[in-house]
Amino acid sequence: MIYREMLAQDYSAAYKLWENTEGMGLSAADSEEEITRYLQRNAGLSQICEDEDGNVAGTALCGHDGRRGFMYHVAVSTSCRGRGVGRELVNRCLNNLREEGIAKCHLMVIGDNELGRGFWSGVGWQFRDGLALYSQDT
Ligand SMILES: CC(C)(COP(=O)(O)OP(=O)(O)OC[C@H]1O[C@@H](n2cnc3c(N)ncnc32)[C@H](O)[C@@H]1OP(=O)(O)O)[C@@H](O)C(=O)NCCC(=O)NCCS
Repeated sequence: MIYREMLAQDYSAAYKLWENTEGMGLSAADSEEEITRYLQRNAGLSQICEDEDGNVAGTALCGHDGRRGFMYHVAVSTSCRGRGVGRELVNRCLNNLREEGIAKCHLMVIGDNELGRGFWSGVGWQFRDGLALYSQDT
């Protein structure tokens, strides 16, 4: 497995993984233009994993607002699951945030995504009960 920074040119292959991944909520914010802007604004933080044939095995989008980190689209292809790829992607992102002086990272999971919730607990993330998420168009 090869781990490296996810770049704008990885978009098409990454999007194919995301649209075939159950539990992944995709929206207009996942267009090539918006993902490219995200990757450029948060350069050096997001990670991609490729298998020995160059196929995308997993992705993790990572960024921060100067105060807290945030991760999105942590996904591993079904054939590569259970081999530590998800954990490694997340650890690399956390290391990148730490190096930028960001002490904590947050992550949203769709409430009924039991697989995803099991993973985040499995890699030691704290479930934050008692928080509510509000959103508004700009
Ligand atoms: C969640 C996901 C990224 C996990 O990727 P993965 O590469 O299979 O995970 P890993 O092999 O790195 O697992 C890391 C640890 O978490 C544990 N784990 C993984 N999924 C788990 C689950 N559903 N329940 C409990 N533990 C789980 C593993 O046992 C492993 O622990 P270990 O290292 O002590 O053995 C992958 O299943 C996926 O892409 N799911 C669909 C997308 C999704 O739901 N993403 C998360 C929401 S954003």
